[in-house]
Order: sequence, then C-alpha cells, then structure tokens
Amino acid sequence: MTLTLALMVAAILTPQETELKAKLPDIFAKSAAHYRALDAAATPLAVSEKDLWEGREASRLQAPHGFKRATGKLDMRSIYWWTSGHYPGSLWYLYEATGDTTLRDRAVFWTERLAPNQTADTNHDVGFITYCSFGNARRLLKTDKYDAILCKTAETLASRYEPALGLIRSWGRIGDKKSFLVIPDNMMNLELLEFASKKSGDPRFDKIARSHATKTMANHFRDDGGTYHVLNYDQRPGFVGSVQEIRRGQGLSCRTAWSRGQSWAIYGYTMMYRETRDPAYLAFAQKVTDYAMNHPNMPEDGIPYWDFGAPGEERDSSAGSIMASGLLELADFVGGEKGAAYRAFAVRQMLSLASPAYFSEGDEIGHFLLKHGVGHKPGASEIDTPLDYGDYYFLEALLRFRNSVSKD
Ligand code: GLY
Repeated sequence: MTLTLALMVAAILTPQETELKAKLPDIFAKSAAHYRALDAAATPLAVSEKDLWEGREASRLQAPHGFKRATGKLDMRSIYWWTSGHYPGSLWYLYEATGDTTLRDRAVFWTERLAPNQTADTNHDVGFITYCSFGNARRLLKTDKYDAILCKTAETLASRYEPALGLIRSWGRIGDKKSFLVIPDNMMNLELLEFASKKSGDPRFDKIARSHATKTMANHFRDDGGTYHVLNYDQRPGFVGSVQEIRRGQGLSCRTAWSRGQSWAIYGYTMMYRETRDPAYLAFAQKVTDYAMNHPNMPEDGIPYWDFGAPGEERDSSAGSIMASGLLELADFVGGEKGAAYRAFAVRQMLSLASPAYFSEGDEIGHFLLKHGVGHKPGASEIDTPLDYGDYYFLEALLRFRNSVSKD
C-alpha cells in the first residue's frame, strides 16, 4: 500500500476499524501470553547443532501442531507435517507485534529445526513450511543467512512440476503415472517460488508459479467461482492435462466448496497478483472472494461453516482467518467501494475471531488462540479444534491491519 493510501485509510476509520484498532494491544498481549505458555509445554527433542544442520535427527524432530482434547496435551507432529512452519511463524508474528525478544529466540529455535524440509520432495507443502518460518525470519531479522535454504526448497518444490501438464503435483509421488493430484492449497506454496525467482534471478520459478496458477484458474473452479478440492489430471497419451476425476477431498462433496480451499484461493490469487501484477489474477481473486462473501450460507459474523454446503454444521475459524488476511491485501489492490467492502468484511471477521466466541481463555485449548477450527471432517480428523495455521493467519491479518492504521 502506498503511504498516501495508508494515510487516507487511517484518516477515515469506520466505527468497526476504530473498535478493532483500540483492541489490538490487548489482543497481541493476550496472544503473546498464550504462546509463551504454549511454548513452555512443548518438549523438543534434544539435538546437537551439528546433527541438526547435517539432518541426522530429521526423522525424529517434531514441532507443535495442535491440542489433543482427550488428553489435554499438546499435539506434536513431525517437522515434515504440512503445518510445521505455522508455529514458528506465529512466534515471529508475535515478536513483530510485541518486540518481545524471548519470542524471537523461540521462533529462531523452532524455525531452524525445519531445515531438513529443503530437500523433502514428497508433497507441495515445503512452501508453507519454509516460507512461514524461514521467510519471516529473514524479513524480521533482516538477514540473508536463510536465503540458501529457501532457494534450495524452491528447487525441491519445482522438482514436482510436470511440464507436460504445466502443473505442480500437490500430492503423491513424483513420476506416478496413475494419478496427478492438485489442490487449491497449492496456490499458497507459489509464494516461495516467486521469492526464489527474484532472489536467484532464475525466471524458471516464476514461470512454474504462473503456469500452475493459470491452469488452476482454468480448471479448479466452477463458473460461479466455487472451488473443487482435489482434481486428478489425466496423463494418458491423447488426454494429457485434461481433468480425469474430481474428488471431494476434505470438502463435503464434489458439488460444494470446501471453505478453507476457497480461502486458500482468495489469498493465493491475491498473492500472485502482488508478485506478478498480472491483472487476470486480480480479477480472479475477486471472483473467488465474491463467491465466498456473497454466499447465502455465509454466517453474519463472517466465519464460514467448514464447507459452504454445510450450513448449521461446525464453523472453520481457520477459513475465516486466512480469508481475512487475504482480503486486507486484496482490498488495497482493488480500492474504491469494492475494496472498502472487502476491507469491511475482513474487519468484521477479525472482530469475530477476537471475541470470546472464538478467542480462547486460559488453557481451554492448550493456549492456542482460536477455537472452532476444522481440519478434515470427512476424515473424522480435527473437528471443532484449534489449528496452528488458523492462529498464524489471524496474527498476520491483525498485523496487516495494524500496519494500515498505524500512521495517524
Ligand atoms: N493444506 C491442507 C489443509 O488446508 O487442510
């Protein structure tokens, strides 16, 4: 956002923006207190610096992921699990929000444990994992010491690109001829490729990111802008690149839109517009946003049900926080009345998430911030629970908002 626009926005806050702005110090202080307590409960494997950097203990390393309600214990997962970058990422954002250097030091600790992901080529998630952790580390520490890890990870992610299809394989083994699975979540991992392209000067990463985003735009959404979750692309001679199969994945059905997938698309196409300035991505970001914002099943508080076809069932607070963060950026790009409507919606979502309906009190969810996330309902996994990535994008949205109002 230009300084002029930031000043304009700051000068004419709506009543809801004024309310959120006044609440920010308290939300950040409470969030930092939660994460200090959470970190005290996390028991990392003891590993020497040498073993860590040489990747010897990689298969045993874990990162905080979630909360097990049945045991009241922290859910630690392998550093190769797709969310392992969100926990250190939240610590980075809380350091940014509060200036507390103990949070910074814990962020460094958990970030550096993720280094073995730079050569992990078994799925597309290395983008999430390394850019939320090492990406924020380089930004906030103003250091280039992690750039080699980020660029190496981009190489690894690029190895999942199939030129004949123009797509990155999200799930599955490289070279598998039976299936080629792509999900809208993959849009998020293109940010790492854009970073690596600019950093290394190698246009290949940017070309891969654009090709993947453009093919996904063409195939992964219905005419109304609602997303499918999983597409299986055909690799048979004569059919290469056509859609062979649509799978429900983490959504309710192939005819409805999985809320978090829709949020990944909102955020992902906005990010691709930021990185490339291709107007097609900006137009598409608005199309997928308008689907979500104007959906008849979108609740009044702006936090979607876990699937747009499942009104009355569980909400997914992570879909709300990812969408709010994406919308704040999109609002600035779009401007005018439409941009103001996007921003107002994001502010409504953040006020809802900061309210007792979603924001946790004490240790009710192991000191994660947001209640009521849904990981994978059809898989009977993580239903109505905190999700580390929900917290991450909530904090990111609050910081984006703070930056936009901090000039008055
Ligand atoms: N990327 C996996 C998920 O959103 O659940």
